[in-house]
Amino acid sequence: MERIAVLTSGGDAPGMNAALRAVVRYALNSRMDIYGIERGYAGLIGGELTRLNARSVSDMIHKGGTFLKTARCPEFKDIEVQRRAAETLSAYGIEGLIVIGGDGTFRGAKDLSDNFGIKVIGIPGTIDNDMAYTDFTIGFDTAVNTVLWAINNIRDTMRSHDRVSLLEVMGRHCGDIALYAALAGGAEYVIVPEIPYDVDEIAKSIKKSALRGKISNLIILAEGAGNSAEIAKRVEEKSGSIVKMTNIGYIQRGGSPNMQDRILAAKFGAKAVELLKNDAESCAVGIRDNKVITATFEEVAGAKKVIDKSLYELAHILSL
Ligand code: ADP
Ligand code: F6P
Repeated sequence: MERIAVLTSGGDAPGMNAALRAVVRYALNSRMDIYGIERGYAGLIGGELTRLNARSVSDMIHKGGTFLKTARCPEFKDIEVQRRAAETLSAYGIEGLIVIGGDGTFRGAKDLSDNFGIKVIGIPGTIDNDMAYTDFTIGFDTAVNTVLWAINNIRDTMRSHDRVSLLEVMGRHCGDIALYAALAGGAEYVIVPEIPYDVDEIAKSIKKSALRGKISNLIILAEGAGNSAEIAKRVEEKSGSIVKMTNIGYIQRGGSPNMQDRILAAKFGAKAVELLKNDAESCAVGIRDNKVITATFEEVAGAKKVIDKSLYELAHILSL
């Protein structure tokens, strides 16, 4: 394969730029032409392609977001729209495509591969860590560290005022950001979509904790698990403590990627190019037990993400 292209799609994630850098430079080192497609599948349909060189990705490894930009493109589910994308690739003589994004992006990749025979390699890039076939996605670690920074600041105020704090974090239907931030941040309670919870029990437990000398409590709520305003109100009513709510929103999606996300980006980018160079079948790259792996898009779609209950229980035990 001599000419390939790369795009970023879905929600941006810290480390996407580092992955683009790895893809571009590994491709050039493998004597392949590399094109960048702007705005994900929207740009692919619209023919927004530019030839990239080593300098296109200079000073990029540490930057959040994605310099190629990204987009949600719901019309890409339509096979006729996908046909236009396939025609664009063919008009440019592009034989293989690397897509960096989440599960929606991979569904689009599978369609392009199944319906039009295009070789597509998926690199998992989303802060949500909601893909079961891989232990980690690019952006997750940085997002959790950003949440930890927020927790540190919130703690100061909580402790000073003897308050309860409810912090809502992202993750769509997945509780990983909340769970990892709770364990690493020493939160007293974590509410995730995957595990049933009882708000009144939490309130009761907060009331009792004062008897053990606990003067402040932190609840971390994954956005997919419930309505933060309603939960905060109920806990306040039932516990008798003042509950303050914070939602750090997009602050957790941006920022400079940390070491783990940059290393993942480098490994995934190189592997994706290598697979296209060797004319491998369409697939996704991932990491399991610290080893880079591949999985078919069928396997990716069929794997159901399960929350790590042992981490959940540990967070609870350590919050005494
Ligand atoms: P993510 O990739 O982070 O999960 P989205 O769910 O928004 O983000 O998906 C990114 C893009 O992938 C969508 O905007 C759309 O263009 C494409 N996509 C999503 N679902 C499908 C699908 N079922 N079939 C084809 N393309 C899809
Ligand atoms: O997938 C990343 C994510 O930030 C989710 O955590 C969140 O639910 C969603 O994207 C927000 O999407 P939007 O980009 O439309 O704000």
